[in-house]
Amino acid sequence: MTPVDTESARPLEITDLTVEYTSGGYAVRPLDGFSARVESGELVLLLGASGCGKTTLLSALAAILTPTSGSIRLGDFEVIGLKGSALTRYRRETVGVVFQAFNLVPSLTALENVMLPMRAAGIATRAARERATELLEQVGLGERMTHKPGSMSGGQQQRVAIARALVQEPKILLADEPIASLDLRNATIVMDSLRRINKEDGITVICNLHLLQTARDYCDRIIGMRKGVVVFDGPPAELTEAMAREIYGGGDPGDEEVELALTATSAPRDEAAEVRTGTG
Ligand SMILES: Nc1ncnc2c1ncn2[C@@H]1O[C@H](COP(=O)(O)OP(=O)(O)O)[C@@H](O)[C@H]1O
Ligand SMILES: [Mg+2]
Repeated sequence: MTPVDTESARPLEITDLTVEYTSGGYAVRPLDGFSARVESGELVLLLGASGCGKTTLLSALAAILTPTSGSIRLGDFEVIGLKGSALTRYRRETVGVVFQAFNLVPSLTALENVMLPMRAAGIATRAARERATELLEQVGLGERMTHKPGSMSGGQQQRVAIARALVQEPKILLADEPIASLDLRNATIVMDSLRRINKEDGITVICNLHLLQTARDYCDRIIGMRKGVVVFDGPPAELTEAMAREIYGGGDPGDEEVELALTATSAPRDEAAEVRTGTG
C-alpha cells in the first residue's frame, strides 16, 4: 500500500457560505448559504447562469475575498480568517488559480511567464527554468516556450496560465471559466489539460463553466448553482433537462441565453480574445 499523503488527502468542506454586499441600500448575496464537500482528487464542475455566484465562490476558496459568514475547511484547518504567513502559504502553495482572462505578461515569453511566480518566491533561475520547462511540456507547449502571448492562440495562452498555476504544486486548482473565450478546438485542448492534471497529478480541480455539454463531457460530478446556493449535486447522468433549466434560472423555453448554455458545445468565439495581438 502506498503511504497516504495527508497534506493532499484533505477534503474541502464548504458550509453555509454567504457573501453579502450592500449596494444602493439593498443587500446583494452572491453566495447565500452555499454548502458542498469536495474530496481530495476530485474533478468538480460548477455550473450556473451568469451572475449565480460562481466567481464569488472561487474567490472565497482562493482566499481572495473574505465571506460574510460560513466556513471553508480544508481537513481540519479553517481557510476563512487566515492571516499573515499562513494566508500567503495557502494562496501560494495550496491553491492555484486560473482565470478566464489569462493574465499573462505580454512582454515575456511563455517560459518567463511560468517562471515569474518562482522568481517572486526567490527560487533560483536555473531551478525555475527547469520546472517551468517541465510544466509547459506537460500542457503540450514544449515547442512554444520562447513564444510571447501575442503570438499564441487563446488555448495556448490559457495553457501557459495553467502551467503557471501549477508552479507551486497546488493541492487544489481553481479555474474560473477557463474556456469562456475559446473556440471549440481550444476549449477541448484546455479541458483535456485540466482533466489530465486531475487524473495524473491527483490535483483536486474545481472549475466554473456555464455550458452544460462541456460539464457533461468532462467530469463525474456537477454542482449546479442558482442564486448563490446548490440546486444540484451529482453525476452528469442524473442531471435531467428539467434540472438543467432550473439551474439556468427556470428560463422560459426559447430564452436565447439559456438555450445556448444548454445546447452549445463551447462558447462562441470571442473575436476580441482571438485577435489579441502581441504588444511586446
Ligand atoms: N463586489 C461586489 N459588490 C456588489 N455585488 C457584487 C460584487 N461582486 C459580485 N457581485 C454580484 O454578485 C452576483 C454574483 O456574481 P459572480 O460571482 O461574479 O457570478 P458569476 O461568476 O456566476 O457570473 C452578481 O449579481 C454580481 O453583480
Ligand atoms: Mg464569473
